[in-house]
Amino acid sequence: MDDRPIRILLVDDDEDERVIVRDFLRDLDRPFDLDWEPDPTRAFDKAAAGAADILLVDYRLGPHNGLDLIRRLREQDIRTPAVLLTGQGDHAVDLLAMEAGASDYLAKGQLSASLLERSIRYALEHHRNREALRESHRRIEEAFKQLRDNQAQLVQSARLASIGQLAAGVAHEINNPLTVILGLSEGVRRRIPPDDPAAAPLAAIEREALRVRDLVRNLLSFSRQKEAPETIFDVAPVLADALALLEAEAVSRGVEIRRELPGSPLRVRGVPPQLQQVIINLGSNALDAMSAGGLLTIRAERSVEGRQAWVRIEVTDTGTGIPPEAAPRVFDPFFTTKDPGRGTGLGLTIVHEIVTRHGGRIAFAPAPGQGTRFTLLLPEAGAAPAPGGAP
Ligand SMILES: Nc1ncnc2c1ncn2[C@@H]1O[C@H](COP(=O)(O)OP(=O)(O)OP(=O)(O)O)[C@@H](O)[C@H]1O
Ligand SMILES: [Mg+2]
Repeated sequence: MDDRPIRILLVDDDEDERVIVRDFLRDLDRPFDLDWEPDPTRAFDKAAAGAADILLVDYRLGPHNGLDLIRRLREQDIRTPAVLLTGQGDHAVDLLAMEAGASDYLAKGQLSASLLERSIRYALEHHRNREALRESHRRIEEAFKQLRDNQAQLVQSARLASIGQLAAGVAHEINNPLTVILGLSEGVRRRIPPDDPAAAPLAAIEREALRVRDLVRNLLSFSRQKEAPETIFDVAPVLADALALLEAEAVSRGVEIRRELPGSPLRVRGVPPQLQQVIINLGSNALDAMSAGGLLTIRAERSVEGRQAWVRIEVTDTGTGIPPEAAPRVFDPFFTTKDPGRGTGLGLTIVHEIVTRHGGRIAFAPAPGQGTRFTLLLPEAGAAPAPGGAP
């Protein structure tokens, strides 16, 4: 227990009470400051400003009543404990006092030093316990949320690991017959005149086969990711390269690209072409969501959370946004809302896999206004140890 004086605020329109209460307070085992305030509005402001540890509130405050003051405080989530002092014939207010959020009520007529001392001590003790409970509750909720996030990421990683194995096997198997189909159909197309009745179905066969080839390529690049060498590199030039590849598509859609990159290097450990692929996948999704033009912003910066330094990269668009019903599934393999032939639904699956493999995290949220913001955090590499940190 600390020895700071207890700040007691007496809210009472009768100044004589101040002297009486001060007299009663002599039994308090701690030093105290007694402040007196006849006006409930100013008393409210003092409590709101945290100027009191406990309030002693008279039930009758001229035209007002003390219960209203306590109720108003509780409504504004101001939790300073308050003891209600009631006069003659106010016995019926006891229940109301508790309902309004008073810690205790004392009949003025029966007031004694020991009664007041005990009431204040209990009120402060209860308050401390309640606040400690609230804090534990908040921590538990935070830990629970963290756990849920981690679990979601774990489930996703497990799903992706199995998809990766499956993909590698299946993709190889599909590639060979596919090459045969494409080779033969091209051979036939060259031999028949363009107005041949078989020309249209043949074109369709080729188109669909090419679609399958795209899919297989995506699957293969996904399962081959482990093979490229790791380095420590600055993300800025990698982002610039990725944006250069998106530029033409952006121009044709009337989308402006904005870069917000810092002057100093942001180093991470990983595989540069993989990070480039992450940005291209996020960027092309953003462009797809902005068919009527818009703004694509790429921002990178250093961000410190506790002892861990991160490189934070944000890809923000002003597009259609991700509808709530699609949100839980966007990282799932083959989940797409795009027309058949437009999307394989593997873009974000690959992004998630790469980011996780780099020891990072990815999340998205509606962007301010309209559109979507994807945020990735990658552990910063090669940073000088924090001053005073462990060697
Ligand atoms: N920036 C975005 N704005 C709106 N919707 C998005 C955005 N990014 C992703 N989505 C939604 O998430 C779905 C999955 O994205 P993902 O990149 O995995 O697949 P895709 O773009 O449909 O196909 P692919 O990337 O394989 O060509 C998209 O179809 C789209 O509905
Ligand atoms: Mg995509």
